[in-house]
Order: sequence, then C-alpha cells, then structure tokens
Amino acid sequence: MSEGFTLWFTGLSGAGKSTIANLAAGELRARGHRVEILDGDEVRTNLSKGLGFSKEDRDTNIRRIGYVCNLLARNGVIAISAAISPYREIRDEIRRNHARFFEVYMKCSIEKLSERDVKGLYKKALAGEIKNFTGVSDPYEEPLNAELVLNSGNEKVEESLQKLLRTLEVANYIRNGVVR
Ligand code: ADX
Repeated sequence: MSEGFTLWFTGLSGAGKSTIANLAAGELRARGHRVEILDGDEVRTNLSKGLGFSKEDRDTNIRRIGYVCNLLARNGVIAISAAISPYREIRDEIRRNHARFFEVYMKCSIEKLSERDVKGLYKKALAGEIKNFTGVSDPYEEPLNAELVLNSGNEKVEESLQKLLRTLEVANYIRNGVVR
C-alpha cells in the first residue's frame, strides 16, 4: 500500500485549485495511488451544508476538511483539499495534526482573477454585491512556508501540473512511476 498524505491547495477563488487538484488526481490514480478530493464548492453542499463565509464558519469548514483528510491520509490515501482556506493559523493547525502534509499555494493576482472571473463573482464582489468576498472584502493570508507555490496567473496549467508532480517526487511524497 502506498503511503498516504494530504495535498492541501490554498488560494483565492478562481486561482486554479480545483483544476490542478483534478488533473493531479487523475495522474496519481493512473500511477496506482488511491486518491480522494475534498473540493470547497462540493464540501459546502454536503459535509459543510449550511455554513456561510464568516471567519467562524470558514474555520469550521476548513477544520472539517482537515479532519477528513487526516483520516484518509493515515489509511494510505492521497487526500486532496481544494478550498480557499484563507487563514494561516487554521491551515497550520491542520498541518500539525498530520504525519505528512504538502501545501500548495496557488498564487494569482486579484487583477488577473477579476479579468478572468470565470464564475462572475469578482465583478459582483467589487461592486459590493457579495460581502466578505475573499481577496476583495475579506482577508486571505498567504502561506509563509508552503511546500510549493504555483504562479497560476503566469503559467500554463500543464506547466503547473508538471511542477507539482516533480516536486512531490523530489520530496519523496510519491515515486516516479506506477506504485503497484
Ligand atoms: S473557505 O474560505 O471556507 O475555504 P471555500 O473554498 O469552501 O471557502 O468556498 C469558496 C467558494 O465559495 C468560492 O470559490 C466561491 O465560488 C464561493 N463563495 C461564495 N461567497 C464567497 C465569499 N464571500 N468569499 C469567498 N468565496 C465565496
């Protein structure tokens, strides 16, 4: 059985967390790993249904995701979290509870995100129609010691994916090639 760990994405809405998480999951499964993704948007429709975007609710949401990731990771699964997780202290608390934790900061400027605005949320947030929107009217605390920073505003998806896989290999989280 391959050794599990948590692959924790953090970054603003639209920075590419889910995109890279899904592509990485596909590649890791193809290599024989067992993988589960806890995606922010999806978790909020079941595990965290009813929670909003106050600091308290976000902390509860992130702690729940961290808890499930830890259960999975210690049972040999690569648990992938793709939620904004804006608060450093909570991310670090989850890191401390894990035996193996790999944090990826999907870094992208507000200018780029508002330009792309795939979900149309930045336009609304900048117009004051969505309150407490992360990066616009709510805090986002950048990681200080992430295992990897991907500049998703300036690099192609494929480039980010390859950097991630390579870094996981070099740091001995995964091996190069098929597991079993
Ligand atoms: S987190 O802060 O608790 O980690 P999470 O990743 O679950 O956030 O949810 C973020 C998603 O919710 C965004 O991608 C966006 O689609 C939606 N959303 C709705 N309102 C907000 C808001 N006020 N701030 C950030 N995201 C919001």
